[in-house]
Amino acid sequence: TDYTITLDPSARGAAVDDTMYGVFFEDINRAADGGLYAELVQNRSFEYSTADNGSYTPLTSWTAEGAAEVVNDAGRLNERNRHYLSLGAGASVTNAGYNTGIRVEQGKRYDFSVWARAEAGTTLTVTLKDAAGPLATARQVAAKGGWRKYTAAFTATRTSSRGRLAVASTDAAALDMVSLFPRDTYRNQPNGLRKDLAEKIAALRPGFVRFPGGCLVNTGSMEDYSEASGWQRQRAYQWKDTVGPVEERATNANFWGYNQSYGLGYYEYFRFAEDIGAMPLPVVPALVTGCGQNRATDDEALLERHVQDTLDLIEFANGPATSTWGKVRARMGHPRPFGLTHIAVGNEENLPEEFFARFQRFRAAIEAKHPQITVVSNSGPDDSGTTFDTAWRLNREGGVDMVDEHYYNSPQWFLQNNDRYDSYDRQGPKVFLGEYASQGNAWKNALAEAAYMTGLERNADVVKLASYAPLLANEDYVQWSPDMIWFNNHASWGSANYEVQKLFMNNTGDRVIPSTATGTPGVSGPITGAVGLSTWATSAAYDDVRVTAADGSTLLGDDFSGDASQWTHRGAGTWSVQDGAYVQSDAAAENTLVTAGDPAWHDYDLRVRATKRSGK
Ligand code: AHR
Repeated sequence: TDYTITLDPSARGAAVDDTMYGVFFEDINRAADGGLYAELVQNRSFEYSTADNGSYTPLTSWTAEGAAEVVNDAGRLNERNRHYLSLGAGASVTNAGYNTGIRVEQGKRYDFSVWARAEAGTTLTVTLKDAAGPLATARQVAAKGGWRKYTAAFTATRTSSRGRLAVASTDAAALDMVSLFPRDTYRNQPNGLRKDLAEKIAALRPGFVRFPGGCLVNTGSMEDYSEASGWQRQRAYQWKDTVGPVEERATNANFWGYNQSYGLGYYEYFRFAEDIGAMPLPVVPALVTGCGQNRATDDEALLERHVQDTLDLIEFANGPATSTWGKVRARMGHPRPFGLTHIAVGNEENLPEEFFARFQRFRAAIEAKHPQITVVSNSGPDDSGTTFDTAWRLNREGGVDMVDEHYYNSPQWFLQNNDRYDSYDRQGPKVFLGEYASQGNAWKNALAEAAYMTGLERNADVVKLASYAPLLANEDYVQWSPDMIWFNNHASWGSANYEVQKLFMNNTGDRVIPSTATGTPGVSGPITGAVGLSTWATSAAYDDVRVTAADGSTLLGDDFSGDASQWTHRGAGTWSVQDGAYVQSDAAAENTLVTAGDPAWHDYDLRVRATKRSGK
């Protein structure tokens, strides 16, 4: 089939920013603890609670021998780290890590640390083992009284993904923050990131990192999170809880149904973005919750507090090392500012009027103090509809710089909507496509997304930023699928969708060269071994779709003339309409490629041809 692309190199299309394609990291599917955050011990500070997940206890992921009890009393390590383990003389506890256990690799170094309160003379014995025996030489730690941090290093003598870390005490001892970290983290950063996952993200060469959510951001944003609540189950995702020494960071219930340690916090997000050369793009709650909890706060004090927190966050990122929050950053190891330029307020609010009123408060406060920062607004959870339209009207009328859009649709939708942004107002707010994915990790999904991305790029004067979502999924703890990168405790693998993102991010051009195409865009073959072959076409876009064998004979075909409901089947076979697309779901007798009972393997070279409807 002839397919001609004509382009005029002298014509100037939209300029494409280097930051156009980025990633969206949310702690969903255990993306942080047990994922990107390299900590190997699960529930290291004994803070798991039924408030996070009905199946949790403070000893989740731990087994005990002898007297061992998690307590919450005045003897605690600090006010934010409420619970600790009280171990009797001669008792021990063992941690099972994530997935099948703790992963160690032969010859590599692992750093153990623990906060312990025990009388001088008490000895802690730390072992790393699996069912087959020791994985490293055991270490002993001599206590010196009071709460202190103790460390020890292991070199793994074998590789295992089923490791266990055990701590035994000769005498009564209190333990907290029991930790095991690979020495080998991404860029060898302390309190760092799991190397294979961070490297996969870095290999994308993303222009920006959006974090920390998603619905995660809205979590509990209506709740009081002051000291008055006793630092227990803060609910609100509050960036200040996620910085400073890890043992002083509160843990929290994660929106997605588990506990989040905040070991991977705002400092680590900024540092990672910097390490991979990406623009950091944090999202703060607007106090109008979407994500199935439509509600807007009327609590003035709470709203003011979140507005101030947002200003403090900008100071944490950009302020001089002498400023209140810049000092916190400097003490953590980064005196230089992180160079924040964009901040998003809100995520998927379903109440556009209420959202916009509160968004204006945030924007006014930010612009008054930091006029150089771009404040990104929101359009709710859909690609269209009343909420979406109202949100866009308000954003347009309010002269907003950039609006965040989210949608998860079928691959057909992505193919049909390539022209979505062609008609967007060039004078209106720019678009941040903060979350999108076609529903699946199959090749056809990746292809549909690639096709769609050409439409984003063609409109790079309007679509300024775009990120596929979600980024990461631990295969044993999945709340949301599809995802871009999958992993367990010892391996990680990119989806077909990942490869598409990588292709676009690694080959971002400077400027679009306008082009026109003739021929048969969209569907092509050959498809080999295509038993159960399905293809797509839309009534709007295609006049004719047929499946032919390599010799040219038509196996299946249809004339798509007229209204979709009136379509008649010219070729044999069973055809159906799914998600607005015309799908061949079953071959009828005369088109049967495989005869029942035929034991041989057959290869079929099939071609799918579609003729684009004129005028579309
Ligand atoms: O990406 C997963 C979820 O999808 C996000 O948390 C939310 O913003 C959206 O609904």
